[in-house]
Amino acid sequence: MIFRQLFDSVSSTYTYLIASRRAGEALIIDPVLEKVDRYLKLFDELDVKLIKAIDTHVHADHITAIGALRDHTKCITVMGEHSAVDTVSMRVAEGDTITIEGTTLQVIYTPGHTDDSYSFLMNDRVFTGDTLLIRGTGRTDFQNGDSIAQYDSLFNKLLKLPVETLVYPAHDYKGDTVSTIGEELLCNPRLQVTSANEYAAIMNNLNLTNPKMMDVAVPANLAIGLRQDDIDARGGSVTAADARALVDRDDTVLVDLRDVAERSKEGVIPGSVHTPYPELAAHLGRGGLLYELVRATGKRIVFYCAYGERSAMAVGAAYDAGLRDVCHIKGGIDAWVKTGAALEPGSDSN
Ligand SMILES: [Fe+2]
Repeated sequence: MIFRQLFDSVSSTYTYLIASRRAGEALIIDPVLEKVDRYLKLFDELDVKLIKAIDTHVHADHITAIGALRDHTKCITVMGEHSAVDTVSMRVAEGDTITIEGTTLQVIYTPGHTDDSYSFLMNDRVFTGDTLLIRGTGRTDFQNGDSIAQYDSLFNKLLKLPVETLVYPAHDYKGDTVSTIGEELLCNPRLQVTSANEYAAIMNNLNLTNPKMMDVAVPANLAIGLRQDDIDARGGSVTAADARALVDRDDTVLVDLRDVAERSKEGVIPGSVHTPYPELAAHLGRGGLLYELVRATGKRIVFYCAYGERSAMAVGAAYDAGLRDVCHIKGGIDAWVKTGAALEPGSDSN
């Protein structure tokens, strides 16, 4: 396994790069905008393909790189369902999984530092964002923070993990790099409490100043969605309402770009076929499924995904592959459901 803990010294942020092998798929957690060039070089050096860029929450102390990485690498941006960002490619909730080839993250909803804080468990280690830090915990005094909720996230979720679980936080200001659940249970001064109220009393009396970057970082981190004007201007978008008329048309094929887990959870548009977004390039090339389908039948391809971001990128990729009669459902399944249109159960095989 490739596992890299990268550090931004300005914001003291840890960023994690994970891949199961060289020449394989990679994901990154909590990347920092100023480090994008370093990440891109590292992907190259390690010969990995970035598939998913994930933030544990909307950060207040640095600008996220997940939007910039999507623009550079066409990767999938991922955040939790409670994040107030304009658009990400994929949203996850408690109990969901985030997968790339050879790697699975279990999603744990851990509100408290913010109301959109998530932790990710990967086998022997947990990425705790700003919920559990080494010998500390994330402040709870802004961005809908809540010390009682954080107590619950800590004591009823993270601290219930096996004591040997490695703890990898989003920040450290002292130079520590990793801890364990057992070590934090014993040595973290904030955790030596006997009740939620006792914990809240500590957290509510920290009297911290706001992060220097907060007024810049939070608005920037809330506006990370893909710019789609170009695709719209080229006629590459249809509204979900208009897309309803395309189902069952013989000259059209709807292509779902979401992961298997999303399809199982949310359902699929009836009659659509499945091409996971990470496999798209192979399907659009000469000899690929979609390329040959269009060549043989002349059908129009209508891509869709969860929120219309992967599908907009797919339209761009299809144009680049020389396919012209291609569009996507703006706003994705999210917009589709809001029109009142039906979905059918999704499975591996359809
Ligand atoms: Fe934070």
